[in-house]
Amino acid sequence: MTGWEMEKLEQHKEKDVLILGIETSCDETAASVVKNGRKVLSNVIFTQIALHTRYGGVVPEIASRKHIEKINQVIEEALVQADVTLGDITAIAVTYGPGLVGALLVGVAEAKAISFAAGIPLVGVHHISGHISANYIEHEELEPPFVCLVASGGHSHLVVVKDYGEYEIIGRTRDDAAGEAFDKVARAIGLGYPGGPKIDKLSREGNPEAITFPRARVAESEYDFSFSGVKSAGLNYLNACRMKGEHFSQADVAASFQKAVIDVLVEHSLHAVKAYGYDKFAIAGGVASNASLREAFERECGKRRIMFYRPSPLLCTDNAAMIGTAGYYEYIRGVRSGYDLNAVPNLKL
Ligand code: KG4
Ligand code: ZN
Repeated sequence: MTGWEMEKLEQHKEKDVLILGIETSCDETAASVVKNGRKVLSNVIFTQIALHTRYGGVVPEIASRKHIEKINQVIEEALVQADVTLGDITAIAVTYGPGLVGALLVGVAEAKAISFAAGIPLVGVHHISGHISANYIEHEELEPPFVCLVASGGHSHLVVVKDYGEYEIIGRTRDDAAGEAFDKVARAIGLGYPGGPKIDKLSREGNPEAITFPRARVAESEYDFSFSGVKSAGLNYLNACRMKGEHFSQADVAASFQKAVIDVLVEHSLHAVKAYGYDKFAIAGGVASNASLREAFERECGKRRIMFYRPSPLLCTDNAAMIGTAGYYEYIRGVRSGYDLNAVPNLKL
């Protein structure tokens, strides 16, 4: 933490900073109240998964409509559970990108309306900054700098967290995100949507060494990822079995595919931690809730004496507590958004 930020924190010490976090970037309508950045007073999530399952993925138009239906109720519930009223809220933090534009707009419009009506400052938050900040909630001792792997449905980034809200992306995916590969292979296996948690569960009954799937490297950049190869190899394997009428074990395909993805995530991440000279490493994003991935990092970080941080699974997938936490650090840095805040679907970190 910089001296300047310490000073900012000091200024707020005598008074609790309560952030109302709002998140609607994809298919979860979520609101949370977070006290002083790290204490979650409430974390309400209305998940739309059941609505989208029949289509095999998130339907943006349906997501936006459901957000509109649910947002007021979810925010009210977050305030009630936290035992506060809007009058107690110091600032409203809202995800304004990246994500589905129509979905983001619901949260942004709602946050602006409450901010205007109740006279509460507004802070726009980057969704990935939120995912990374989820690590602060349960690890009071964690402070930047550290390296963080962000693996979600839309991103696979290796990030150096230089300070609160200050990031340098050192690796990214050249094609599919890790979560996207999980979802597509799961669908091909016949597991349905969302694929990640289903592969996670089924792989426990399978042999991760049964099928050899590729572990891709990107020639020019040792920290970049590429998951389209392993995804295609999975799809090709399944197609070949089906065309030849051969039986395949769903569990073995799931376990072998998952192992191939995890091996690459672990290898690249820990190589970066060492090369950049850090001793702290964190994971974030939906894929970070994967049990085998968490075990693999725990084991490998232990061997290398790297401190390993991970949010509990509920705080890895989309939620508003992480937005409240990221919003707190933005707020104390003096960041304020105007009423011209707009949804930015491809917002850069
Ligand atoms: O972070 P997130 O909730 O939303 C985005 O920002 O994208 O991540 C969702 C992604 C999906 O692709 C989902 O299949 C994957 O995270 N995911 C998992 C697991 N839980 C969610 N992947 C592997 N194992 C899991 N347990
Ligand atoms: Zn996310």
